[in-house]
Amino acid sequence: INKGNGVKGLSDLGIKSLPSQYIQPQEALINIIPQQSIPVVDMSNWDNDPKVAESVCEAAEKFGFFQLVNHGVPLEVLDGVKDATHRFFGLPAEEKRKYTKELSSTNNVRFGTSFSPDAEKALEWKDYLSLFYVSEEEASALWPFLCTKLMTALMEKLNVKEIDKTKESLLMGSKRINLNYYPRCPNPQLTVGVGRHSDVSSLTFLLQDEIGGLYVRVNEGKGEEDGWVHVPPIEGSLVINVGDALQILSNGRYKSVEHCVIASGSKNRISIPIFVNPKPNDVIGPLPELIDAGEKPKYKNILYSDYVKHFFRKAHDGKKTVAFAE
Ligand code: SIN
Ligand code: FE2
Repeated sequence: INKGNGVKGLSDLGIKSLPSQYIQPQEALINIIPQQSIPVVDMSNWDNDPKVAESVCEAAEKFGFFQLVNHGVPLEVLDGVKDATHRFFGLPAEEKRKYTKELSSTNNVRFGTSFSPDAEKALEWKDYLSLFYVSEEEASALWPFLCTKLMTALMEKLNVKEIDKTKESLLMGSKRINLNYYPRCPNPQLTVGVGRHSDVSSLTFLLQDEIGGLYVRVNEGKGEEDGWVHVPPIEGSLVINVGDALQILSNGRYKSVEHCVIASGSKNRISIPIFVNPKPNDVIGPLPELIDAGEKPKYKNILYSDYVKHFFRKAHDGKKTVAFAE
């Protein structure tokens, strides 16, 4: 399908109806709860008021998702990232094609469409450029300060007092940045931008534009209230979520929750997640401090690269990945 220009190529052609490969089964669609939201944490008083860090920890425990405002990353930096994303997807198809799996000169730079096309019964309405960083210098050059601040607070709450080299690697040893492009879709209600899934990261930092479409699952397993809430775009904010790796490391204290993206019928949306991850060669499992304090391990130890491989081998199918480590 239109290799090298993805769904943007289809959208730009002005197609009037959704090609059948993109029609999702009924179970991929979600029930939306309108009157609820995820927490918004204002970081302005981080240094003076311990309640701010406390509300980050609480959000990570209860929702697994929150938005941060006044986080210290300048608006110009965020706007620059968004501009660069638009510039990349605006390139001619033959330029983008150079980064497809078949042609890219490195595994660490990949242009693609949908999530796992070979494994999917129905395709997702999304193109992406994915960039992977593993060296210390590259990894810590990216929003290092904010990430360390949040991780330190999250660890303190678990009585893990020091982030030594081993923990630094487990919590933030590698990073992946995706530039996502969700073009205007002729039948948005029949498909998805991204199917329901949980992230395999420790923490994800997401920059989204003003279009909206990200939904998060709340009250899972609590009967009637179980449903999905919108993450409304807030200018200058970052959306933070706990991924499976941090759920496992924290022995289930912090929750990696399902989320998905609904396609737009009128606008082209972009989003830029930074996935802060363990290093591929790390073995992840509940942190020793928690087990030493008497907790029973809820997850078995697992090589992080195996965990990730398992995730990418399947279509998005909800929060099934973490069961792999139970
Ligand atoms: C994702 O969770 O994969 C993407 C989130 C977004 O685009 O808002
Ligand atoms: Fe995600």
